[in-house]
Amino acid sequence: MALLEAAGLSLALPDRAAVPLFGAAPMTTILDGIDLTVEPGESLGIVGESGSGKTSLGRTLLRLYRPTGGRLRFEGTDITDLPEERLRPLRARMQFVFQDPLSSLNPRHRIEDILAQPLLAFDRVGSRAEGRQQAKALLERVQLPAAFASRYPHELSGGQRQRVGIARAIALHPPLIVADEIVSGLDVSTQAHILALLRELREQGALIFISHDLSVVRVLCDRVLVLYRGKVVEAGPCAEIFAAPKHPYTASLLASIPLPAVEPGWLAGAA
Ligand SMILES: Nc1ncnc2c1ncn2[C@@H]1O[C@H](COP(=O)(O)OP(=O)(O)OP(=O)(O)O)[C@@H](O)[C@H]1O
Ligand SMILES: [Mg+2]
Repeated sequence: MALLEAAGLSLALPDRAAVPLFGAAPMTTILDGIDLTVEPGESLGIVGESGSGKTSLGRTLLRLYRPTGGRLRFEGTDITDLPEERLRPLRARMQFVFQDPLSSLNPRHRIEDILAQPLLAFDRVGSRAEGRQQAKALLERVQLPAAFASRYPHELSGGQRQRVGIARAIALHPPLIVADEIVSGLDVSTQAHILALLRELREQGALIFISHDLSVVRVLCDRVLVLYRGKVVEAGPCAEIFAAPKHPYTASLLASIPLPAVEPGWLAGAA
């Protein structure tokens, strides 16, 4: 059974550009008839130019948005229209790592409480003290010093915050993680460390890795899906698609983004 399955998935949102004189803003199509499956433990890259719908797709797949068309199944359960209270137990099994951890980590909470929060919310620990204890173990898993437990997000660097975001996402051992542009804006060596970490975590669950950087997707993902204006224009194994893109848009993406000599060993070396 597929872990996640989308069939004809569509999303329309109120058009931000339109200013209605009367009533609600007209809807604009963001995603149009997306078909995809993610198998347990698999790593799927979602690529496409800015505005193609990558973030919207990631959010819809985890039901942070409600699809306006099509079907969405997670672990065999149809979650397309599942109300929030019935989604809640599933939320522990699907986690999102946000692009900008400074805005997704509560600035007034210490790292240990940020990491303990999902554990407490889903009754994985019996007390706040136990949660804080586990937070230290989580920090270790993402290779941060346990002393960071008592710090606040603003006291960490961008790369360190990104690791905290990952630690929070893996706290509940979810079978699915969606990571949205999580290495953009970090320097190359920090990127390499975070990617090495993701590669390691991939052994434990499936990863949907959203990125505009094809060279990173190539070393991290088994399969790739190319989005263009809210539609899938190409999908398949990375090796095949990067070697011989069928769609002109994919070819132009590959041509416009120089693929540096990123050998798989580059990540292994950074671990
Ligand atoms: N809340 C919203 N309301 C209306 N339109 C939106 C909303 N969020 C996104 N859009 C529009 O949907 C389209 C896709 O946006 P999205 O953020 O998913 O693209 P993206 O591929 O993630 O881009 P980027 O690479 O810049 O992050 C864009 O045209 C955007 O303006
Ligand atoms: Mg985005």
